[in-house]
Order: sequence, then structure tokens, then C-alpha cells
Amino acid sequence: MQLTIKKADQLKPKPDDSELRFGTIFTDHMFNMDYNPEKGWHNPRIEPYGPISMDPSTMVLHYGQSIFEGLKAFRTDSEDIRLFRPQENFKRFNGSAHALCIPEFDEAFALDALKQLLVIEKDWVPKTSGTSLYIRPTIVAMDPFIGVRASHTYRFFIILSPVGAYYAEGFNPVKIWVTKNHVRAVRGGMGEAKTAGNYAASLYAGEEAHKHGYTQVLWLDGVELKYIEEVGSMNIFFVIDDEIITPMLNGSILSGITRDSVISLAKKWGMKVTERRISINELINAYDCGKLQEAFGSGTAAVISPVGVIKYGDKVITIGDGNVGPVAHKFFKAITDIQYGKAEDSMGWIMPVEV
Ligand code: COI
Repeated sequence: MQLTIKKADQLKPKPDDSELRFGTIFTDHMFNMDYNPEKGWHNPRIEPYGPISMDPSTMVLHYGQSIFEGLKAFRTDSEDIRLFRPQENFKRFNGSAHALCIPEFDEAFALDALKQLLVIEKDWVPKTSGTSLYIRPTIVAMDPFIGVRASHTYRFFIILSPVGAYYAEGFNPVKIWVTKNHVRAVRGGMGEAKTAGNYAASLYAGEEAHKHGYTQVLWLDGVELKYIEEVGSMNIFFVIDDEIITPMLNGSILSGITRDSVISLAKKWGMKVTERRISINELINAYDCGKLQEAFGSGTAAVISPVGVIKYGDKVITIGDGNVGPVAHKFFKAITDIQYGKAEDSMGWIMPVEV
């Protein structure tokens, strides 16, 4: 397949790094590629960023057959541009494609197309520590048809957005709300796929949490509402009695790449790290016994996000002294130092982009 490139006639003004929030500004170009049963994935192209024209009956608008990924490009002090574990994102993307009956794509080709897009958009990668260029690969169902079945045609696109911190709190502890009324996903469902519906399913409880002054929802399992699963936009870790615990992957939890990075670093450093079921009652007991030392989330957008308060029914748990704990800080520093080239890439996680 031959990638074609059409450059924009006019470039947008670039924002100042200090103005960057999350997900509001998009670069000048995007990657597009189409699928139909006759040609397979075809017509890969980089072209000016712009609207996608769709018939109102387009299937994705009705039945949510849509998947996405999130990864980041970073600029180092020596002006190199690099990606963090991008192969893992494209592998997971194909996993989500499989789960949603979307035809799989060539991961090496997509990664190469992304690198070519990044070369064109290199001036959009922000410089300041804590900022990056967020990359959003997406595939949507394109058949103009309102019967329920898998679409026959698809659009694959990649858009880029210069970003700062995901949460308004930055690296300060967030407050999370454990919902007793809603579930995000169940085993056998779509929970481990990165698909639009999982995020739509999270909105109602998210609004409820916001109304009460909480940033995110902590989801319990969809069967018994007993075991901790994940937070709205990140995986969750607890430090209890010097053991780092995260819910094991069970089919309804997203297999986070930052989650995996935390586990790998913890093992490398000889810390006790366990992937297992952990119930909300165990968490509350640990808190009551004074053994809950820290809680933090992990995600591409959120990086490492300390959790300061957890509310479950009438019980409000304040973790530590309200400041960032040492374990969360250690992972945040190690991961961001690798990403921004301030530490050696001893894990082999960095892929340079030759600009
Ligand atoms: C990410 O961490 O990249 C995500 O996809 C989470 C969110 C912004 C949906």
C-alpha cells in the first residue's frame, strides 16, 4: 500500500505550551484510510485535518461500532521526538477491532504512517515538561444502514492534539467516587476493548460524581458490585502494607499500557506487586487498620494520578496526608523521565521518530 500525502495550504497558529489543557486543539493534518470487503484496507493518506462527511444513517452513529487508542509523542530537551511503547497500542487496537467485528489492520504499516504524520506535524509536539502530543487512532463503522449487524465499510483515522495535564488537578491527588448503582462492564462484555460504548456507559455515574465534587468514578465489578475494577479513564493501584495491588485483568478491565509499565518497573525494582481481585471491603478494612498507604491511577492521558479521597456510600477515606505519596511519585518520575529522555530507556520502551 502506498501512503499519499497532501499538505494543508494554510497552517494554524500553534498554542503556547502554558495554555494547553486536554483534547481541545488539533493539528493541521490527519491520517485516513478506508476499508471495504473488495479492497480491504486501502487508500492510506495524510491530508489536512478536517470533517469526515457521513450519511446520517452511518452505522457508527447508531450502534457505536467504534474503537480508539490513546498514545503520546514527547519532545526531549535535545529536541528529539519519541513515542512510548506504540507497538503495544496498535496491538491492543487490533484486539479491540477483533472484539467489535472490525477487520484487523497491519500494525507495522499503521505505525509507520503515524511516524510519517508526526514528521509533518513535528512542530506541534510541545516542549514544556508535562506536555505532549496526544495521538488518537480511531476506527468507525461507515455503512449507511440502520439494521443491526457489523458494518462492511470502515474509516481508520489518526488525529493529533497537543495536551497538558488530563485532570485540572495536574499531579495533585484526585477525589474518586465509588458508584453503588451503576456498572461499566461485565465479564464477557466489552470492558477490555477500547470502544466508545464503554465510555458512554460511564457518563451517568460520572455526572453523579461531579455533582458531589468528585473527579472520577471507581467502578466495581458488574456482577456482585464487590470487586474493584478501574477508574473512568485509568487503571487503579493501591499500596497496602507495602504491597502494591492492582485488580487482575479479567476481561472487563482495560489492559492499560501504563498499568503494565508500573507493574514491570515494580518487579524490576524488587517491590512486591500483585495482580489480584481486591474487594471494596478489603480496601476499607485496610484503611480502618491503618494499612492503606497510597492509591493512584495509571493511564496514557492521566500518566500516574494520585488518589486523595475515595467515597463509598457514607464512608469517606482520606488517603495519606492529602499529598502525593512516595510510591506514586516514584512511578510518575520514572515513567516521565523515560518518556522525556531524562533517564536511560532501560526497559526498551522508547521508539524514536526521525524528524
Ligand atoms: C487514555 O489514557 O489515553 C485514554 O484513552 C483515556 C481517556 C482520555 C479516554
